[in-house]
Amino acid sequence: MNETKRLHMITWGCQMNVYDSGRMADVLAPLGYVPSATPEDADMVILNTCHIRDRAAEKVFSELGRLRVMKDARAEAGHKMVLAVAGCVAQAEGAEILARAPYVDIVLGPQTYHKLPEMVARAARAGGAVIETDFPPEDKFDHLPEATAPQGITAFLTIQEGCDKFCSFCVVPYTRGAEMSRPVAAIIAEARRLVAQGSREITLLGQNVNAWHGVGLDGQPTSLGTLVRLLAKLPGLDRIRYTTSHPRDMDDDLIAAHGEVPELMPFLHLPVQSGSDRILAAMNRRHTAADYLALVAKLRAARPDIALSSDFIIGHPGETEADFEATLALIRAVGFAQAFSFKYSARPGTPAAGAPMQVPEADKDRRLQTLQALLRQQQAEFNLSVEGQVMPVLITGAGRRPGQIGGRSPWLQPVHLDGPAHLIGREIPVRIVIGKPSSLAGTLVEELVQA
Ligand code: 5AD
Ligand code: SF4
Repeated sequence: MNETKRLHMITWGCQMNVYDSGRMADVLAPLGYVPSATPEDADMVILNTCHIRDRAAEKVFSELGRLRVMKDARAEAGHKMVLAVAGCVAQAEGAEILARAPYVDIVLGPQTYHKLPEMVARAARAGGAVIETDFPPEDKFDHLPEATAPQGITAFLTIQEGCDKFCSFCVVPYTRGAEMSRPVAAIIAEARRLVAQGSREITLLGQNVNAWHGVGLDGQPTSLGTLVRLLAKLPGLDRIRYTTSHPRDMDDDLIAAHGEVPELMPFLHLPVQSGSDRILAAMNRRHTAADYLALVAKLRAARPDIALSSDFIIGHPGETEADFEATLALIRAVGFAQAFSFKYSARPGTPAAGAPMQVPEADKDRRLQTLQALLRQQQAEFNLSVEGQVMPVLITGAGRRPGQIGGRSPWLQPVHLDGPAHLIGREIPVRIVIGKPSSLAGTLVEELVQA
C-alpha cells in the first residue's frame, strides 16, 4: 500500500480541462494521492492551464510564484511539494516555463496524462524537471485507467480531442493536436459507469465534438447522431448534451436526432464567431453567415423549441465597422438564448497573429460592449419567454438559501426554487414564476409539494 498523499489541482479553461483534471486524479489515485482542497499542505499541486485567450501564461507564472513560497515553506518543514504544470500552456510554452520557473518539477501536455505516474517517479529520482509535450504515438485513453471518481448528477465525458480545422485565430490545433475519436464501446462503458455512480446528465465533450467519428460496435466509423441514439437507450440516463460543435460538421443525421431523441436536450452551443462573410473567410471558418442561418433553420424545423448559444470574436484582424454590423445583424436574425463573446487576442504561432490590420483595442472594447448589450437583451428576453411554463428541471444541489434547491432547465438555464433536499438528483416538473436576466425562479408543482 502506498501512504496517503495530498493532491491539489487548479483548473482553468474549458470543460475538457475539468474532465482531464478528473482523469489525472484517477491516474494518481493508485499511487496514494487523494484530493486536497488547499495547496498549503499538498504533496503535489497540478496547474491545469488554458492558452486560448488573454495573458494565460502570465496567470500561470503569477500562480507559480505563490506556490513557490508554499513549496519552500514545506521544504523547510521537511516535506516535498511536487509542482506540475499541465494543459495547453504547458504544451505551448513548456521550455519557457522551466526557464522562468525552474522550481517546477513536471511539465506535461494534454496528450501525456497517462504518463503522469512515471513522470512523478522520474521527478523523484532525478531531482530535476521532467517535461513531456510530444504528441505520443499511443492514445492516452488506451493507457488511462477507467474513470473512477464519481462526477455527480451532471457529468462530462470526453469523446473527441484535437482539431484539424486550423481557424486563423485558434491555438487548439497546436496544443491539442490532430483530431481523434474514442470508440463507441469505450464511450458506452464510461457512460454506464457514470450512470451507475448517480449521473443523470452527460455532456459529451470534444474540441470539435460533432466531428467525432469513432469506431462503432460493428467496427465501422460512426457519426455523433448514432452515438446519441445509442446512449439514449441507457436506463437512468435522462439527459444528453454535447459541446463544442462546428457548423461545418452539423450533419443531417445529427440534426434529425434533435427531433427524435427526447433525451437530447433542446439546446445547442454552435459557435459562429462572426456574421461577416469577409471575416469568416479570413478566419478560415469555411462557412458563410447564410450557411449558419440555414443550419439554424434546419435545427428549428427538427426541434422547434431548440435554443442556441454561440461564441463571438470581436476585432479579428481586418474587422471593419461594416463587418461588425454584419455580426449584429446575424445575432438579431438568430436570437440567442445565451452566448460568449471575446475580444480577439493574438495567439503566438497562429496565422492571424501576424496578419496586417490588427484592430485597435479601443474599437474592440466599444464593439464588445455593443455586442454584449444585445446578447444580454436576447438572453433576458429568452428567460422572460419561459415565465409561466412548467418544465422539467434536473435538480443538482442545494440552493443558496436554506430550504432552497437548484438545477438546470432543458435549455441550461439555472433554476432556483424552494423544495426538499431529497429531490436532488431527480428531474422534476417546475413552474417558472420569474425569468430573470440570467436565471429562473420556480416553484414545485402540486403533487411534489405534497409528496
Ligand atoms: N482570441 C479570442 N477568442 C478566441 N477564441 C479562440 N481563440 C481566440 C482568440 N485568439 C474563442 C472562440 C472559441 C472560444 C472557445 O474561444 O470564440 O469558440
Ligand atoms: Fe483552453 Fe482550448 Fe486548451 Fe481548452 S483546449 S484548455 S479552451 S486552449
